[in-house]
Amino acid sequence: MTFTVAIDGPAAAGKGTISREVAAHFGYAHLDTGLLYRATGRRTLDGTDPVEAARTLGPGDLGADDLRTPEVAQAASRVAAIPEVREALVDFQRAFATRSGGAVLDGRDIGTVICPDAQVKLFVTASDDIRATRRLIELTDKGHDISFEQVLDDLRQRDARDSARTTAPLKAAEDAVLLDTSELSIKDAVDLAIEIISERQG
Ligand code: DC
Repeated sequence: MTFTVAIDGPAAAGKGTISREVAAHFGYAHLDTGLLYRATGRRTLDGTDPVEAARTLGPGDLGADDLRTPEVAQAASRVAAIPEVREALVDFQRAFATRSGGAVLDGRDIGTVICPDAQVKLFVTASDDIRATRRLIELTDKGHDISFEQVLDDLRQRDARDSARTTAPLKAAEDAVLLDTSELSIKDAVDLAIEIISERQG
């Protein structure tokens, strides 16, 4: 059986946690597609051509331990605007989405471009301040020395670039269910997502 859950939204809205928890709840596989762009972006920081980097990504690149830094996030957002980079990553994502046993993919264009036929599409948002606060806690917990203003600026710059690009911009699919997590605890957001998915499983 194949069953695809597409979860999109801006940076730090809660997609990652919701996706992981939902996948664990239903026993589905989970792919954080942002990691593909982060791994590609990270390789460009060493001087590799972005298209070449995307075409030759390997498990070692995806397992790198410094993919979560703000610098790599910005590089990811920049390479993500290059159509050939996106093209190089499509087949892997679609194969993952249609694997047997169910799959959850989170990103920016999953419901619109990668899996337009996904059985469930969620678009997860939260206010800028809430997103920056959550990301700040994550980064400071990992030992990064960064201010709230820097985090907010990083998120806004990326969202603007990710939304403005011509190929596969960040936007909700017309048939996506909107999930605003600003006022929700993570548990409530996950429970709501599970409820929506359960309804579609029939
Ligand atoms: O989800 P994330 O913050 O790890 O993603 C990092 C960047 O990668 C994001 O700013 C835009 C890009 N991205 C994308 O363009 N399409 C996706 N499906 C996932 C991420």
